[in-house]
Amino acid sequence: MGRSCDFLFALAVFILLIHVHTSVSTVPNISNDEAALLAFKSHISFSPNNILATNWSSSSPVCTWIGITCNSRHHRVTTLDISSMQLHGTIPPHLGNLSFLVSLDISDNTFYGELPEELAHLQRLKLTNVTSNNFTGVIPSFLSLLPNLRIVLLSDNQFFGEVPSSLSNITKLQVLGIKGNFLVGEIPRELGDLRYMTFLYLSLNQLTGAIPPSIFNITTMQVIALANNNLTGELPMTICDHLPNLVGLYLSRNYLDGVIPPTLEKCRKLQILSLSINEFAGTVPRELANLTSLTGLYLGGQHLGGI
Ligand SMILES: *[C@@H]1O[C@H](CO)[C@@H](O)[C@H](O)[C@H]1NC(C)=O
Ligand SMILES: *[C@@H]1O[C@H](CO)[C@@H](O)[C@H](O)[C@H]1NC(C)=O
Ligand SMILES: *[C@@H]1O[C@H](CO)[C@@H](O)[C@H](O)[C@H]1NC(C)=O
Ligand SMILES: *[C@@H]1O[C@H](CO)[C@@H](O)[C@H](O)[C@H]1NC(C)=O
Ligand SMILES: *[C@@H]1O[C@H](CO)[C@@H](O)[C@H](O)[C@H]1NC(C)=O
Ligand SMILES: *[C@@H]1O[C@H](CO)[C@@H](O)[C@H](O)[C@H]1NC(C)=O
Ligand SMILES: *[C@@H]1O[C@H](CO)[C@@H](O)[C@H](O)[C@H]1NC(C)=O
Ligand SMILES: *[C@@H]1O[C@H](CO)[C@@H](O)[C@H](O)[C@H]1NC(C)=O
Ligand SMILES: *[C@@H]1O[C@H](CO)[C@@H](O)[C@H](O)[C@H]1NC(C)=O
Repeated sequence: MGRSCDFLFALAVFILLIHVHTSVSTVPNISNDEAALLAFKSHISFSPNNILATNWSSSSPVCTWIGITCNSRHHRVTTLDISSMQLHGTIPPHLGNLSFLVSLDISDNTFYGELPEELAHLQRLKLTNVTSNNFTGVIPSFLSLLPNLRIVLLSDNQFFGEVPSSLSNITKLQVLGIKGNFLVGEIPRELGDLRYMTFLYLSLNQLTGAIPPSIFNITTMQVIALANNNLTGELPMTICDHLPNLVGLYLSRNYLDGVIPPTLEKCRKLQILSLSINEFAGTVPRELANLTSLTGLYLGGQHLGGI
């Protein structure tokens, strides 16, 4: 009995050593980042004279490439910012190998196709900005697997389908921008669980149904932009009970009805209130005059009296 225990112990140590040995020799390093970026480069068709075409070359160190920042401690790629470089191409799965990536900004180009699921491996990612490209597909559900995301900007693309309720699992999310896509369905009430949200941009889609009251419950919220959708229903009288920091409320060009809540005066910091081209009735509440920070008030295009 004692003998076989010794034997098993020795075997366990042996296996452990082999495991440590193999995992040391396969620890990813900057060469893996370089391979991932060169794979990405091969999926980009460049506009004439594009600097990236020559700059991203194995003959110079990855960390000196344009748009790349590395951290000094691990010597790995942490930032990829190739915004506004007139690039045209697709995102290969290899980008998911940039395991130290914190910030991904490929905005304002003409990348197309879908965002690959392998991006779910980017567990350190805090910022994703793919605004103003030609991406398609549904809003990727893998985003909810990235627990460190603070900023997700997918605006002005060709994403379709619904706003996934799983986004509410990105508990640190502060900025969510999906304006200017082809989103349908209702705004998930689960978004109200995002306790650090400051900017929510869902304008210029085809969203329907009522605005879930839960999003008026996020006390950190500064801007709620839901204009140019097909939203219906009334605004709750409690709309401003928990929005002490709201500076912008953009709800114009929807099908909202009922009265304009006089309680909007409780959003003390409100600077822009845009409610035009809806189906509100009644009079403009005189309480709105109490909003001393207001610089823009847009109410036209409905059946209101008493301005
Ligand atoms: C990176 O790892 C590979 C093995 O995966 C190894 O061959 C190479 O020498 C390493 N490079 C550096 C810079 O550590
Ligand atoms: C790549 O671009 C960076 C930033 O402009 C520059 O510092 C570097 O020298 C360039 N490298 C090559 C090989 O062109
Ligand atoms: C990088 O990613 C690709 C595609 O996901 C994969 O096939 C490849 O094995 C990865 N390479 C390394 C070195 O991790
Ligand atoms: C995201 O990209 C857009 C378009 O390039 C840019 O205007 C915006 O400042 C970027 N935002 C962040 C937080 O990177
Ligand atoms: C974007 O995609 C749409 C449809 O997929 C296509 O018609 C359009 O030409 C694309 N635009 C650019 C600039 O690639
Ligand atoms: C959030 O994540 C948990 C655990 O992974 C999962 O059970 C739940 O369904 C997710 N919530 C949403 C709204 O997807
Ligand atoms: C939104 O309303 C427009 C008319 O204003 C209509 O053409 C469109 O089909 C509606 N979309 C949805 C998803 O209800
Ligand atoms: C608002 O938050 C409070 C507590 O944080 C909660 O009890 C209430 O149900 C929430 N209301 C909505 C509409 O989500
Ligand atoms: C808000 O406006 C109403 C009506 O104009 C007025 O009676 C009230 O005193 C004001 N409240 C505050 C807090 O200024």
